[in-house]
Amino acid sequence: MTAPGAMQESKKTEPVTSLAVAIDQVHQSFGTHRVLDGVSLSVASGKTLAVLGRSGTGKSVLLRMVIGLQKPDAGSVRILGQDLNGLTLDELGEIRKRTGFLFQHAALYDSLTVEDNVAFPLDHHRKGMTAAERSERVNTLLAEVGIEGSLKKMPSELSGGMQKRVGLARALALNPEILLLDEPTAGLDPIGSGEIDDLVLKLKEERHMSSIVVTHDMHSAKTIADRLVLLDKGHVVIEGTFDDLKRSDNDFVRLFLKQS
Ligand SMILES: Nc1ncnc2c1ncn2[C@@H]1O[C@H](COP(=O)(O)OP(=O)(O)OP(=O)(O)O)[C@@H](O)[C@H]1O
Ligand SMILES: [Mg+2]
Repeated sequence: MTAPGAMQESKKTEPVTSLAVAIDQVHQSFGTHRVLDGVSLSVASGKTLAVLGRSGTGKSVLLRMVIGLQKPDAGSVRILGQDLNGLTLDELGEIRKRTGFLFQHAALYDSLTVEDNVAFPLDHHRKGMTAAERSERVNTLLAEVGIEGSLKKMPSELSGGMQKRVGLARALALNPEILLLDEPTAGLDPIGSGEIDDLVLKLKEERHMSSIVVTHDMHSAKTIADRLVLLDKGHVVIEGTFDDLKRSDNDFVRLFLKQS
C-alpha cells in the first residue's frame, strides 16, 4: 500500500539551487569607453566560476561590482540573495564581511607587518578575540596559504607571489561564504599555483565556499572551475564547463584557448 504522502513526495520538484551571486545585464562605461555592455553571470552556491578574457575587458571591474565597490551604470547585482541596489551601508558592510576579496595586486597595507595585514579584518570585526586567539588564527591562515615564519616581515620584503598569498590569507580571515579572487595565481610559479588551486578546491569541498576567480591561467581555471565565462568587447562570448569551451566552434573561444 502506498504510504500517505508518498504521492506528494514523488511530485516534489528538485529544489532550485540557490545562487551565491547573480549579475544581471550590467553596463559600465568610463567616459566614452564602454567596458561592460550587458553582462550577466551567476554562481551557484558552493560552486566556482572562472572569469576569463583579454586584458582590459572589465574582469576586475566586474569583480568589484559584486561587493559594491563599483556601482554599475545599469543592471543589477545580487549577492547572497540580496540586491545591492537596495542595501544600506550597514547592510553592505555585513555582506562584505561574508565575502573574501583578493585584489589583483594583493593590496596589502605597506606599513603593516604580514601578521597585522592578515589580522586586519579580525581587529575590526572580531574585537573580542584575545591576543592568543588572534595569533593562532593568523598562524592557521598563513599555514593554509603555505607561508609560515613571515609574520614580522613587511610586504615590501615579500615577492609578488608571497604578497598574493598574504592577501589570500587576509581574504579568508573572517571565514567568508563567498570568495572573490582576482588573478590569485599570477606571479606564482607552477608549484605555488597548484597549491592555491588545491586550497580553492579544499575550501569548496570542506566549507562549501562559492567563488569567482578571475584568471589568465587556463590550467588553474580548468582545475578549479565548475563553470567558466569568457568576456570580450563588453559581452559574454560563452559560458559553460571547460569541455563546453573546448568544443565550441566560436573563433574567439578557439583563439583564446589556443593562446592561453
Ligand atoms: N575607475 C576607473 N576609471 C576609469 N577607467 C577604468 C576604471 N576602472 C577600470 N577602468 C577601465 O576599464 C577597463 C577594464 O578594466 P579592468 O581592470 O576591469 O580590466 P581587466 O579585464 O581586469 O584587465 P586585466 O586582465 O589587465 O587585469 C580598462 O580599460 C580600464 O582602464
Ligand atoms: Mg584585472
